[in-house]
Amino acid sequence: MALPKTALITGASSGLGRGLATHYAKAGVTVYAAARRLEQLEALKAEVGATLIPLKLDVADADGCCERVRALDQECGGLDLVIANAGVGELSNGKRIDWPGVHQTIKVNVAGAAATLCGALPAMVERGRGQLVGISSLAAFLTLPRTAAYAASKAFLTSFMESLRFDVEHTGVAVTVIHPGFVKSEMTAKNKFEMPFLLETDEAVRRMAAAIDRKQKSYAFPWQMSSVVGLASALPKPLYRAIAQRTR
Ligand SMILES: NC(=O)c1ccc[n+]([C@@H]2O[C@H](COP(=O)([O-])OP(=O)(O)OC[C@H]3O[C@@H](n4cnc5c(N)ncnc54)[C@H](OP(=O)(O)O)[C@@H]3O)[C@@H](O)[C@H]2O)c1
Repeated sequence: MALPKTALITGASSGLGRGLATHYAKAGVTVYAAARRLEQLEALKAEVGATLIPLKLDVADADGCCERVRALDQECGGLDLVIANAGVGELSNGKRIDWPGVHQTIKVNVAGAAATLCGALPAMVERGRGQLVGISSLAAFLTLPRTAAYAASKAFLTSFMESLRFDVEHTGVAVTVIHPGFVKSEMTAKNKFEMPFLLETDEAVRRMAAAIDRKQKSYAFPWQMSSVVGLASALPKPLYRAIAQRTR
């Protein structure tokens, strides 16, 4: 399978994004590794080598992000792969709903991800090739206590990309949505609850990269967690709510 020549990966300063940037840069892909913490990206470049190019980018400034991605596409002669991975994932108790936290989730996970993809897509369609990848979550498929903003933000990304795929069919542009379960990262290190089937970051990155390289339309993993989510979403609503209420 031919690897892309150029890739943009957002949220590359830690966790899954860092792992994916490392994976592709080591394979010889020119990777634009984007995040706000430039020092982390510079350290990663020192580790990985010249094929990784740090890019300071705050995706929460959605208009600026879209414009930066569009300009980068022109500067580098065309992005072959764009991975909208940057994300935030705070749990929030609806009884003490915190608008700044909810707003930041919407700015990063919804507007930031959409802006990243929209900045790249028109030029990909024009060239008749390219791949958009969105890192959603298994949370996109379920509503659970304390995950209102996060689950809804990931449901948006999944829905956005699944719909986009209809529109770009036959243009040569591939659309891949990835739905990870629990993976070790800075985000999950904050969780104080049990995380079933928790995966090591490297293992998750290996599986995600394989799905991206296959240009798989949708990839949910690990299968154990994905099956639990599939079964839970097939339950009658009242039964599901009674069970979900106990996960708090
Ligand atoms: N780990 C899991 O279990 C899991 C499960 C399902 C889905 N996911 C999704 O996977 C993606 C990566 O998460 P992770 O687990 O690897 O978490 P992580 O280690 O916390 O990484 C999050 C990345 O997003 C970046 N980011 C946050 N806000 C940003 C902003 N405003 N602008 C630009 N970059 C920003 C961070 O970089 P800076 O702070 O340097 O900007 C960081 O590189 C997220 O979309 C997450 O929702 C994770």
